Amino acid sequence: MSLRHFLRLTDLSLPEAREVLSLATQLKAEPKGARRLLLQGLSVAVVLEKASTRTRVSFEIGIAELGAYPVVLGVQGSQLGRGEPIRDTARVLGRYCDAIVYRTYGHDRLLEMTQGKVPVINALSDDGHPVQVLCDIFTVEEHLGPIRGKRVAFVGDCSSNMARSWLEAAPLFDFHLVLAGPASFRPPPQEIQAAGSHVSFVESRPLALAGVDVVNTDVWTSMGQEAETRSRLDAFKEWTVDATMLASAPSHAIVLHCLPAHRGEEIDEATLEGPRSRVWDQAENRLHVQKALLAWLLRRS
Ligand code: CP
Ligand code: NVA
Repeated sequence: MSLRHFLRLTDLSLPEAREVLSLATQLKAEPKGARRLLLQGLSVAVVLEKASTRTRVSFEIGIAELGAYPVVLGVQGSQLGRGEPIRDTARVLGRYCDAIVYRTYGHDRLLEMTQGKVPVINALSDDGHPVQVLCDIFTVEEHLGPIRGKRVAFVGDCSSNMARSWLEAAPLFDFHLVLAGPASFRPPPQEIQAAGSHVSFVESRPLALAGVDVVNTDVWTSMGQEAETRSRLDAFKEWTVDATMLASAPSHAIVLHCLPAHRGEEIDEATLEGPRSRVWDQAENRLHVQKALLAWLLRRS
């Protein structure tokens, strides 16, 4: 069995992503703990260099529910916070653990973590949040059926890690992504080019949600960008997902937000808590899909 990582969505082919999503459907339908034998005897490290609630808890519990042992490591309290190189940490963790789930900054840091020679899962980086978007595709399909051919809008900071992973997902899963927001916040040109005709751009708020099936947004200031908070509040002030914006979306359209949400900024309270919102299902599905991804990556030959 060859070593596989999940650093970006396209680390899986479409058939492989479909295997993971279909295993997630099975796991979600089963009683808790029904698969304790799947990863029994294994250990998984969860290394977090940024804050986390959902990712940390869903991975930690998911790992335990598969019968493996989770070890959660933060910057504070580990030698990473005192400057131990990632490649040294990686090689040591690789001697103890069977996989590493890693939340960090640049993609280079994820690549360095692969020196542990065990599967590494990107649990959010500056360049993407692929595990979240894989889970979100599961949520879309649960509520609306196959994502193929659908129209998904991402509203607000279209240069964010979330928008970039949605952009990567569009050609892989064959849906259309509308990036709606200020033109000065877009993904890098090579990523736009890779999406080809699967992406289009909208800079006018009234047109943003015409014909879309899914409305997705995320914070205007991502972790690590706190120094830009004020200028970002100003840049995105027209782009709150609210009832006025949603009025132009078809009545079946659902609203997603990976959370945490800043009510009154990227989304208003009424929309987040309203009838189109699927954010709590979305958060729950982190558990089921990540369990499937781990089981798939660690499948025993
Ligand atoms: N959506 C998400 O990744 O949430 P956390 O930052 O709480 O892990
Ligand atoms: N774009 C956000 C996602 C949080 C889950 C961030 O990186 O902070």
